[in-house]
Amino acid sequence: METIRSLKRMQKRAFRHKREGSVIGFVPTMGFLHEGHLSLMKLARKRCDVLVASIFVNPTQFGSNEDLCTYPRDFTRDESFCEKANVDIIFYPEFESMYTDDASVWVNEEALSGGLCGASRPDHFRGVCTVVTKLFNLVQPDLAVFGEKDAQQLRIIERMVRDLDFPVEIVRGSIVREPDGLAMSSRNKYLSATQRKEALCLRRSLDKVVEQFKEGERDATVLRQVVVDLIASVPSAELDYAEVVDDGSLAEVEKIEGDVLMALAVKFGAVRLIDNTILYP
Ligand code: PAF
Repeated sequence: METIRSLKRMQKRAFRHKREGSVIGFVPTMGFLHEGHLSLMKLARKRCDVLVASIFVNPTQFGSNEDLCTYPRDFTRDESFCEKANVDIIFYPEFESMYTDDASVWVNEEALSGGLCGASRPDHFRGVCTVVTKLFNLVQPDLAVFGEKDAQQLRIIERMVRDLDFPVEIVRGSIVREPDGLAMSSRNKYLSATQRKEALCLRRSLDKVVEQFKEGERDATVLRQVVVDLIASVPSAELDYAEVVDDGSLAEVEKIEGDVLMALAVKFGAVRLIDNTILYP
């Protein structure tokens, strides 16, 4: 396994692998890796000759009031995760080299980015689309794996790849959960012991929704209220959003007729967690 920090070197290496006919698999991350990332890497590993994982805490996807400075970082720990997943190249760009001071070109998705996480994080997806475009240009992947936990991000990346004709296959990786059901996230580490216990309300509320859905409930307002009520009963939790949206357009639905995404974001003090489930009628 090799770590590449220079943008130019990464791109040159990627072109060399392509010339040689190798399939490049890619897992972009912001580091502080966990079993969720590991499962994305394993998924990519099966399908490629050269596996690249990037580690870059992307400043342009954080709002000014968000946790960019305190976002957890531990490269040595990340290296051992990548080793476990049989990664060939860790792309670990220098912070300063990714954006020039006068960078002025952005990639903006305009239909799927406004609701859900985009409502409380206005420039977040512009930052994500821009950095993923840059990473795709530098790593030249044939396929890239993104996790289902960030359901909106995944759909926006799929749309970006479709609309801008990126020659990259986007592969969906399932949500990986702790044994008690909490979706894995680098941010879980910031939960206090009480918040950690109470954070199970995300999964519990989704389970309740699935139960009612299976019993035949198709009214989105009723299902959404299940989440609102359950989260309201948890002292340390503050609901950011709970939405039932069409799985393709991410537009709110009233009656569930096609596949929908039930997604929620909950704050525990400064820590914001997300989770979701897909309901298939
Ligand atoms: O999901 C993430 O960790 C980030 O949004 C990504 C895709 C690596 C872009 O910075």
